[in-house]
Amino acid sequence: MSTYSDIKRVTTNTLQSLKQRGEKISMLTAYDYSMARIFDDAGIDVILVGDSASNVMAGHETTLPITLDQMIYHAQSVVRACLRCLVIVDLPFGSYQGNSKEALNSSIRIMKEAGAHGIKLEGGEEVCESIKRIVGAGVPVMGHLGLTPQSIYKFGTYTVRAKEEEEAEMLLRNAEALQEAGCFSLVLEKIPAALGTEVAKRLKIPVIGIGAGGGVDGQVLVMHDMLGITKNFSPRFLRRYLNLYEDISNATAQYIKDVKSRDFPNEKEQY
Ligand code: KIV
Repeated sequence: MSTYSDIKRVTTNTLQSLKQRGEKISMLTAYDYSMARIFDDAGIDVILVGDSASNVMAGHETTLPITLDQMIYHAQSVVRACLRCLVIVDLPFGSYQGNSKEALNSSIRIMKEAGAHGIKLEGGEEVCESIKRIVGAGVPVMGHLGLTPQSIYKFGTYTVRAKEEEEAEMLLRNAEALQEAGCFSLVLEKIPAALGTEVAKRLKIPVIGIGAGGGVDGQVLVMHDMLGITKNFSPRFLRRYLNLYEDISNATAQYIKDVKSRDFPNEKEQY
């Protein structure tokens, strides 16, 4: 097993060799400098500047409203923090679906203005032409299948995808098409574990799951969920490592109390 000090910079090749060695890939989302600094220092392999920023940073109900300029702002802050990990940035809704030239131009903006190491986009065969064009320009592309939140109004619900055979077969076909088009990796969101395992076995590229079971090549979680900052969101796939909502709420209540009671600042806490 490699350790933090063995790897200088995580690249798409590093992820490929982790898959070949059977070592799982760790990925988390981040949207700002301070959190990205902690994750990178702790040894995370990949940070995804996800368009989930639309939900957890901006408070929108879906990922649809976030703009390319806003994604670039988040990505710039994350890239500044990362010395080791690979930083991948989501192409937001509306910045690539028009045509492959639009997709390439949006990707180039992310690479040039944020200094990211690659982009992620949602979809199957319908985005393959764009993927070929982006990869052709030298930009690594991560695919995203299963529950694709940018299409939430088409699905109508956030339930598990590809439970039926027909949709599972379509997902497998799309996964192979994405690999063929040049994706270096693929995210699978909220699908049956057996299907996740099957995709990871069939593909040469690393498959990273969120709610896709333990048979894929790596795992990703949204940082606010993993750290327990979000409340009232408890899908089965989520493991919370902290309960920061409660901790921060308690700390805030204590601070208010200390200020009101004139306990803070005390004599040692002033000049
Ligand atoms: O935007 C995001 O956070 C994502 C992950 C759920 C994979 O796409």
